[in-house]
Amino acid sequence: MGEFPSGFVWGAATAAHQVEGGNWNADCWALEHARPSLFVEPSGDACDHAARYGDDIALLAGLGLNAYRFSIEWARIEPEEGAFSMAALDHYRRVIEACWTRGVQPIGTFHHFTSPRWVARQGGWADDRIIDCFARYCERTADALAHELAWACTINEINIPDTLVAQKRLRALDGPEAAERRAAAQSALGAPLESFYLFAGGAGYAERACAAHAKARDAIGAAAPHVPVGMTMSIQEDEAEDHDDAREALARYRAAVYAPYYAATAKDDFIGVQTYTRMMHFRDGRPGRPKGCVRTMMGYEYRPEALGFACRDAWAQTRKPILVTESGIATANDAERRAFIRTALDSVRDALADGVDIRGYVYWTLLDNYEWLSGYRPTFGLIGVDRVTQRRALKPSAAMLGAIARVNSLDIAEPIEEGIVGAGAAVGLG
Ligand code: BGC
Repeated sequence: MGEFPSGFVWGAATAAHQVEGGNWNADCWALEHARPSLFVEPSGDACDHAARYGDDIALLAGLGLNAYRFSIEWARIEPEEGAFSMAALDHYRRVIEACWTRGVQPIGTFHHFTSPRWVARQGGWADDRIIDCFARYCERTADALAHELAWACTINEINIPDTLVAQKRLRALDGPEAAERRAAAQSALGAPLESFYLFAGGAGYAERACAAHAKARDAIGAAAPHVPVGMTMSIQEDEAEDHDDAREALARYRAAVYAPYYAATAKDDFIGVQTYTRMMHFRDGRPGRPKGCVRTMMGYEYRPEALGFACRDAWAQTRKPILVTESGIATANDAERRAFIRTALDSVRDALADGVDIRGYVYWTLLDNYEWLSGYRPTFGLIGVDRVTQRRALKPSAAMLGAIARVNSLDIAEPIEEGIVGAGAAVGLG
């Protein structure tokens, strides 16, 4: 039996900076254009989603999905401190309206990695002033549009800055060969590199981020008491090598990257779970991939069932309803994506059967988009995007996930056609 609970949320996600295009007032844009840059290429027009959101939401709805997770760009809403853009707020109101018009629940995220440049200049996520600044932006934005959201997420992957530190993945920022790129980045930003969200982990970050989340949650909750509000967390399946030192390393890792954040969900309505892979914890204290594993385009271990483990962990630690706000794979092979989605959903269904309260599954990502420091090479999307013409092309995995969503079950007729399907029909152009 492949059924999911009735009312299950089936969606796909994006984030403003990764799809909208021309987000030049954001700190990330400045970093992309530093010379030399830590980013392999700039985001540029991205997927031109700021203009094409209506067609993209129509595509999503045409597939059969019932939810769209997107982020609201702080750098557009508050381009300078205290100066709020009514036009930008109106834009996101139209995005929300486009969702409801197509029978799609809008899931809004208030912060997805990027901040306005003026925030970076005052220290960004490494400075305590972020707590009040972020709360004020959330309050203004929530007053304007939160009552129309179906779900609200405060901070995307609130624990990712500490996770990147604990996984020792920020080494690229240090050492002699990186010195030039760090200096160029700081001069482009007019601020230390640590002001940028992804690089802000370490001492003091957890307290600061959790305080920012709490104030944001209260502001959104006050404006829209009927809308569930929560944070999202990056949670992997974690496994220790069979050795005491490895088990201790895992315990230290969990204390740094999960414990403070799980604790901070106490007054939240739900928790957003985001899972991509499994982490092995070795006796030398180094987290990494299991030896000899199959890897995805991101270099992660191919491990779709990690999602079920992550949901079980979040449930055991918080007892909060779970919304899977991201799960996905970067691959050029869509058959691999389909297998990944099926196995991930199998693990969700097994967790549901064991009593874990999971309310929905949102795939990362709707469109092939800007994958931060890695640029446009990794392709996570259900829908391909031509980098020159912006033409959308549905992949078979999009049709498969839509079919699953329509029947609320994994028992769908197979096989889904191989090859790329033109996107026109779903928006009435085909
Ligand atoms: C982020 C996305 C990102 C994805 C794939 C998550 O950490 O929320 O913005 O594109 O992972 O790497």
